[in-house]
Amino acid sequence: MTTSSAPGKIILFGEHAVVYGRPALAVPVTQVHTDVEVSDSARTGMWIDAPDVNLHAELNTLPSDHPLASVIHNFLFISRVSAFPNLDIKITSTIPVASGLGSGAAVTVALTRALASHLNYSITNEEVNAFAYEIEKLHHGTPSGIDNTVITYAKPVYFVKHPSSPERRGVGSEVETFKVGKPFTIIIGDTGISAPTKESVGGVRRLWMNDKSRWESVFDKIAEISFTARRAIEQGYWEMLGDLMNENHELLQELTVSSPELDNLVSVACNAGALGAKMSGGGRGGNMIALATPDMAEAVSNSLKKAGARNTIITQVS
Ligand code: MEV
Repeated sequence: MTTSSAPGKIILFGEHAVVYGRPALAVPVTQVHTDVEVSDSARTGMWIDAPDVNLHAELNTLPSDHPLASVIHNFLFISRVSAFPNLDIKITSTIPVASGLGSGAAVTVALTRALASHLNYSITNEEVNAFAYEIEKLHHGTPSGIDNTVITYAKPVYFVKHPSSPERRGVGSEVETFKVGKPFTIIIGDTGISAPTKESVGGVRRLWMNDKSRWESVFDKIAEISFTARRAIEQGYWEMLGDLMNENHELLQELTVSSPELDNLVSVACNAGALGAKMSGGGRGGNMIALATPDMAEAVSNSLKKAGARNTIITQVS
C-alpha cells in the first residue's frame, strides 16, 4: 500500500489580485488534510472509495470530467503506463469543500503523489505542481496557480503568477518561500457556505472587463499590501498584519467577493480582540481569517462560533 497526504492552505493576502499578476502570500494549514491510499486490487479496474463525498465507484463508470477521474486519467496519460493496473484508491479529507482552504488542489497533489509512488513513476515537486496547475485550470477556469503551489511545497509562499504564455503552460511563476521572523497566530472561521472559486473569480473577471483601469488600481493597492505584509512577516513585526488585513478586506469588499456572513465574522473577530481580520480565498462564503495574540486566540475562536461559524481552526504560522 502507498499513502500520501497534502495539507490545506489559507491565503493571507492578495487573493483575486494574484490572478492579475499581483503578489499574494499563502501558508499551509496542516490541521486539515487530504489522505490517499493506493493498493493493488483483487478486482479488475480502479476502484475509488471516497466516503466524504459518498463516492464508491470504478473509474470508468465516472464521467471523464469528474474531478477525481480527470486527475487519474491525466496522470495515467503523463506516466504512460502500458497496462492499466488494478487498484483500490481510498481518498479521505478533512478539508471542507469549496471553502477557500484548497480542498481541490490538495486532492490532486495527494492523489498524484500516491499514484506515482505506487506505480514507481518518479515525479519531482515541480512536476507535481505543474500537473496540479493543469488540473486546476480544468475546473477553475483562470486560476493563478497559488493554491497548487502552496499545497505542493507545503511551505509559506510569496507567489506572482507568470504572464500566461502557451509555451510556459503556467510553469515559471515566481514562487519564493519566505521566512517567518516570529511565529504568529491565525484563527480561521468557516461561514459554512460553500462557494466555488470559479464563480467569484468569474465575477471579478466581469467587473475587470467593464472597467479595467478602476480594478487595476484596486489590484495595485492589494499588491502594495502583500508586499508590505511580506516584509513585516520576515522582520517579525507580525502585529502590523492586523491593519493590513483590515485594508485588504475592504478592497475585497469593493471587488464584491465578500458576503454579509464573511463581513459579520470579520467584525465579530475584531470586536472580540483580534488585531485585524479578512476573508480568505475565493470569498462569497468559505473562510475568513483573524490575527490575534496567542492569549486572545481562544476568545476570538469562541466568539466566531457563537456568531455562527461552522468551525474554527487556530493555527500558528511559523
Ligand atoms: C483562491 O484560493 C484564490 C484566488 O485568488 C483564485 C486564484 O488565485 O486562482 C481567488
